[in-house]
Amino acid sequence: MVKKKIVIGNWKMNPLSLQEAEKLFNNIAKSISNIKKTEVVICPPFLYLEKLKKISRKIYLGAQDAFGRDEGPFTGEISAPMLYNIGVRYVILGHSERRMMGENNNEINKKIKSALVAGLRPVLCVGENVRDESHNYFNLVKNQLEECLLGVSKNSISKIIIAYEPIWAISSTPDRKDATPDDCREMTIFIRRILSDKFGKETSRMRIIYGGSANERDAENFFKKGGIDGLLPGRASLDSKKFSRIVKICEVSNK
Ligand code: PGA
Repeated sequence: MVKKKIVIGNWKMNPLSLQEAEKLFNNIAKSISNIKKTEVVICPPFLYLEKLKKISRKIYLGAQDAFGRDEGPFTGEISAPMLYNIGVRYVILGHSERRMMGENNNEINKKIKSALVAGLRPVLCVGENVRDESHNYFNLVKNQLEECLLGVSKNSISKIIIAYEPIWAISSTPDRKDATPDDCREMTIFIRRILSDKFGKETSRMRIIYGGSANERDAENFFKKGGIDGLLPGRASLDSKKFSRIVKICEVSNK
């Protein structure tokens, strides 16, 4: 079975106005109009989702989080079924910026399960803070995968996308360093092994993608050598030219 490659733009808490969001989204939609083989997803802030949905049928919309319960007394939260009902189809869960605000694997696990029940495809972010010489980062990622995916059924596992995002390479990390396609490949092989040990052969259909200052200059190398099925750019997704360049590179890498 052929896995469609995917590029997911994480706009984070940008831009400041709906007008700017519409302009950026429109420019992206125009410049990727010829794309056929790549799935393109944009994850804007919640409050722009419904408006942007009306602009393009080609670009899927994703949220940057969703709560782990469907409805009830949870002030300030937004649930997976609410997102599905306005046309959202993907949701980033367990992003390191949310983990830094206190989110733990147990909560992420609840969010993944609610998202799956609602019909959303979770994009589960995993990744280490540092690469230590004793290779403890493998254990950390293994633990994140095991705890976040606890109790997920073999039937739904292939709906989940794993985003490997080493925190030391993310654009907002002070003194960040570039991750190489080799760093990425080593981890994607490891992630695939953990997944297939736990969930069996269904996991061969899962997409593993890379995020961490992914940009239009290194995208080709990551597709060629990183062992990935897609990219999750943050900063580069706020520039329509850079983002659409990444999508076009992905399209060429799709066989
Ligand atoms: P970045 O963000 O591309 O700006 O590093 C990626 C992410 O944090 O999802």
